[in-house]
Amino acid sequence: MDNRELLKELEDQTRKEDLPLKDSAKNLVFGKGSPEAKIMFIGEAAGRNEDEQGLPFVGAAGKNLDKLLASVGLSLNEVYITNILKYRPPENRAPLQDEIKAHTPWLVGQIKVLQPKVICSLGNYATKFFLANGIVDNMDKQPGITSIHGKVRIIEFEGLKIKLIPLFHPAAIIYNQKLKVDWENDMEIVKKEVSQKELS
Ligand code: URA
Repeated sequence: MDNRELLKELEDQTRKEDLPLKDSAKNLVFGKGSPEAKIMFIGEAAGRNEDEQGLPFVGAAGKNLDKLLASVGLSLNEVYITNILKYRPPENRAPLQDEIKAHTPWLVGQIKVLQPKVICSLGNYATKFFLANGIVDNMDKQPGITSIHGKVRIIEFEGLKIKLIPLFHPAAIIYNQKLKVDWENDMEIVKKEVSQKELS
């Protein structure tokens, strides 16, 4: 099976699973982008628009993410975008630990198919998940995004060597304009890291 088929199968399995938040959400929000991507962007959870369309990052935060991609010369043909949670939490509340535990095996499945070289973790939840090496109980002990955004590190995750680039969540830029300068500086870092030839 090729990656497209593997991801489709994984999505079908996820849909059948009795996951927390499934009953309150309208749609599964599994992922979008290229099944051959070596760069993943991983956010927190769907909001209203994503829930309605069944696609990640299609609302206001998605517009900022689209700008980010354009500014570093990437398109949806080169990246894969998904979230920690696969269903929207009611009223966009923060993910609960049990929800993260139940949903992230499906994210790990996506990572195993794609075998990314770079993961841009968007915001605290995705960043702490990787810093805790996928151990949800250890997420609390990890440093916050404010202190480590833009600091690239190599992680070993599920036997893969991955360059982790922690970034502010694109929604945070909407609410806090002061972050814009940091965000733009981080874009330069992303640009440098994704243009290195080992990615191609
Ligand atoms: N915020 C996220 O973290 N993910 C989405 O898909 C949309 C908004």
